[in-house]
Amino acid sequence: MSATPQRQFALQGAAVILVLSLAWPYFGWQIAALPWLETSLAIGAVAFVMATLSRQPWWWRLIHAGFMPLVWATQRLEIEPGWFLLAFISLQLVYRGALSGQVPLYLSNKQTVAALAELLAARGPSRFLDLGAGVGSTTVPLADLLPDSHFTGYENAPLTWFVGLILGVGRPNIRWRWDDLWQAKLGEYDVVYAFLSPAPMAKLWDKVQQEMQPGSLFVSNSFPVPGVTPDRVIEVDCTPARPLYCYQL
Ligand SMILES: C[S@@+](CC[C@H](N)C(=O)[O-])C[C@H]1O[C@@H](n2cnc3c(N)ncnc32)[C@H](O)[C@@H]1O
Repeated sequence: MSATPQRQFALQGAAVILVLSLAWPYFGWQIAALPWLETSLAIGAVAFVMATLSRQPWWWRLIHAGFMPLVWATQRLEIEPGWFLLAFISLQLVYRGALSGQVPLYLSNKQTVAALAELLAARGPSRFLDLGAGVGSTTVPLADLLPDSHFTGYENAPLTWFVGLILGVGRPNIRWRWDDLWQAKLGEYDVVYAFLSPAPMAKLWDKVQQEMQPGSLFVSNSFPVPGVTPDRVIEVDCTPARPLYCYQL
């Protein structure tokens, strides 16, 4: 069982239904109030067992075990519900990609940018695309380093996109789009760069193969295409390791 958000919701929901369907009739029969702390602990335990049986990674097991007890503890704080809505909206502004496609925000570092600059310089003036461009951590410094090349970034999280827009101001060789990366026409670029997650790589490779031109280059930071041997792996000097997997079309 893979760890998509929908499946994790389903697992937690199943644990809730299972425990409540036993606890409610039991305490109702005794005309006693449901003990919410014990009930939430029982839900956490059942969810943990289900997550273990379905071979979820260890962090998902911990999340499942702790989720309902934390809900119980949080409701004891009697926080105004509007704050939760505000927190949810704020997270969506930055982490939209995590919920919709299992691609959260983390940024390329300076060493990676230096390695990309070297790669691009060796190819000559290029059209470069960053799929899921974050706040412009690649496009902005690369646009400054390589004024003869052109840099496009697709980013769909509103606040992240906005920060990237501001950071890229005044650079005529940047095109900054608030758009879904799956809408990008990859055939228009010489080098396509992705720093996403393992989740979309197989589907992205299909798109790369269908759209990218012969002679162009696909570069994935940290996440190789499953089952495809890269033509080159650039070991970037940083911790944690962030290899650049290069696939020549
Ligand atoms: C790991 S970050 C990489 C950011 C940037 N490329 C860098 O190297 O610093 C991935 C980014 O992809 C964005 N993202 C996720 N899904 C997306 C989608 N479907 N369309 C556009 N952007 C997306 C996320 O919001 C996030 O900013």
